[in-house]
Amino acid sequence: MEQENEQYRLVAKTFHGLEDVLADELVNIGAQNVEKQNRAVLFDGDKAMMYRANYHLRTAITVLKPIAEFVANNEDDLYKEIGRINWEHYMDVEETLSVNAVTFSKIFVHSKFVSLKIKDAIVDQFRRRQGKRPDVDTVTPDLKIHIHITENQCKLLLDSSGDPLFKRGYRVKTTKAPINEVLAAGMIKLSDWKQDCDFYDPMCGSGTILIEAAMIAYHIAPGTFRTKFGFESWKDFDADLFGEISEESYGETDFNYKIYGSDISPVAIKIAEENIEKAFLAKKISVVPQNFFDMKPFTNLGFMITNPPYGERLQPEDLKLFYQKIGDKLKNDFIGFTAWIIGSNAEVMKFLGLKPEKKIKLFNGPLECTYRKYSMYEGSLKSPDLT
Ligand SMILES: C[S@@+](CC[C@H](N)C(=O)[O-])C[C@H]1O[C@@H](n2cnc3c(N)ncnc32)[C@H](O)[C@@H]1O
Repeated sequence: MEQENEQYRLVAKTFHGLEDVLADELVNIGAQNVEKQNRAVLFDGDKAMMYRANYHLRTAITVLKPIAEFVANNEDDLYKEIGRINWEHYMDVEETLSVNAVTFSKIFVHSKFVSLKIKDAIVDQFRRRQGKRPDVDTVTPDLKIHIHITENQCKLLLDSSGDPLFKRGYRVKTTKAPINEVLAAGMIKLSDWKQDCDFYDPMCGSGTILIEAAMIAYHIAPGTFRTKFGFESWKDFDADLFGEISEESYGETDFNYKIYGSDISPVAIKIAEENIEKAFLAKKISVVPQNFFDMKPFTNLGFMITNPPYGERLQPEDLKLFYQKIGDKLKNDFIGFTAWIIGSNAEVMKFLGLKPEKKIKLFNGPLECTYRKYSMYEGSLKSPDLT
């Protein structure tokens, strides 16, 4: 049986490029022995830390808890090792499960087959012991099991998040090409916005960047609007402990500025308003329908993070012109601003005609993107991006 406060080597998964910010977030919530890996960060923590990580990390996609490690040289070994685990400890027969396998192995080539074998071993154990078996549910299972196999080394983990953590619960609707919530939070954390000036997203679409910025600025935990985390279905769920953890706050500064969003599409603004409302941020974020090229900032100092259209619906020449116009607009009307722009087309971003101070490779889903920082000062016009 598990001990109270038992420590685990937990795994928080994230997107490529966000490992550093996730590691910083983990240190900030008190995680121990934080170790960065590719698209994941490992850390030591007990049940409380696992709840905290799920509720308070803005840049984690899932938090996994290891439950077993073993060697399997063939599928019979795998079946036997899974059968050795007491599954009644983790779930009831009336509950549902799913198994996800990731394999880097010459022995276990087909991950789907591995998932099936594990599922068989678990349901067979229940059938032997209780005469009935749990069902599989790939959409909303009570227990989400992960196996990670490298050659013959198998690691079995439980997904404590359930639905991925980017499903924050505030997005009622989206426009086309919304940015992922975890990526938006990561972009804000990667930028040097210190919540010491107004924040703008002039192509805000469904409002994701604005909402994530406001949640950071006003210390609203990313888990606030979630209706459920995976660990809430677990047999060892401690509702009092989770209640205490959801009251914790990890904010650092007070925010005394404004958050502004706009978009050329009135439909997008309606959607942004609904999402903002759902996040109870209507008093904290102002959005208006407006063409960026007609916009004048309210202040002569500000911070902008934006995600212009990727250009699927624009001809390449029009797209270049569009980016050129964005660059001209920034140079003419946004002197004193810092602007971070994410785009999937590095060639086209050169047409901004501005020299990026920083470039970071990120992924929006499968789409490789470049995230660039531009500081707008009088001389910006003379420093085109020739790289
Ligand atoms: C990639 S989407 C932004 C998605 C947004 N980050 C989200 O999470 O929903 C680009 C947005 O730019 C807007 N847009 C295109 N041209 C614009 C312009 N000239 N001025 C303002 N917004 C514009 C589009 O309407 C679209 O909503």
